[in-house]
Amino acid sequence: MTGSMDKIVLITGASSGIGEATARELAAAGARLFIGARRAERLQALAEELGDTVAWRTLDVTDGADFDAFVEAAEARFGRVDVLVNNAGVMPLSPLAALKRDEWKRMVDVNIHGVLNGIAAVLPRFVAQKRGHVVNVASVAAHMVMPTAAVYCATKHAVWAITEGLRQEHDDLRATLVSPGVVATELGHDITDPAVATALTGWRKKALTPDAIARAVRYALEQPEGVDINEVIVRPTAADM
Ligand SMILES: NC(=O)c1ccc[n+]([C@@H]2O[C@H](COP(=O)([O-])OP(=O)(O)OC[C@H]3O[C@@H](n4cnc5c(N)ncnc54)[C@H](OP(=O)(O)O)[C@@H]3O)[C@@H](O)[C@H]2O)c1
Repeated sequence: MTGSMDKIVLITGASSGIGEATARELAAAGARLFIGARRAERLQALAEELGDTVAWRTLDVTDGADFDAFVEAAEARFGRVDVLVNNAGVMPLSPLAALKRDEWKRMVDVNIHGVLNGIAAVLPRFVAQKRGHVVNVASVAAHMVMPTAAVYCATKHAVWAITEGLRQEHDDLRATLVSPGVVATELGHDITDPAVATALTGWRKKALTPDAIARAVRYALEQPEGVDINEVIVRPTAADM
């Protein structure tokens, strides 16, 4: 059954995992969606499955001009933008001593600059219309640090700070942090350290499925305009972290 959520929602990283599940959940809620990521074939297949209330465009969140064009395309398609879900992220974990500078840079580029590029692309519109909602997908890593995850945790701490700053600076806008614990997705597929890849397999033994996070996003969106869900932390009941 389709719901009646009258919102235009943009979702980054919708080609897999939490972003894909969020697209399914919000499409079922009745929202009109504009979804982005780099893998076009995955986006196209998802949009075709969900129907003509879902449109897509490739997006590299690290490219500010590309993000601006993504938001312009969404506005051209649906007439306005109500919500941005900054979900795209990467997690190539490794010990600091491995000096994987390129992987550190990629995490900072996608997880921090990607979120900032998204905010920059929607904020002038949201300020002008005196309404809008930014949902940033952080992590329990926004609140803790553990070996091999220093840089990833730093990026998620930054997403926490940016979301809180956005909330403080704009009385008319809603800013929500959704912080998942371990979720069974493709995240970490790019880990190049074999010991860390093995550890990830162990952590995933207690994992949520992505629909659990999608429901938290829907909950935040469904509140009345004057109610801002600032953060939702969602862990498996048996979570170790
Ligand atoms: N899974 C977990 O345990 C967990 C826990 C806490 C937080 N999170 C967070 O949840 C978010 C979603 O991750 P996930 O678990 O669903 O992993 P995932 O299945 O690997 O999804 C990551 C998404 O990000 C997209 N992406 C990566 N780089 C991008 C770029 N430069 N431009 C645009 N899109 C890009 C990927 O699409 P393309 O490759 O097609 O571009 C993909 O759709 C991330 O922010 C992650 O940090 C996940």
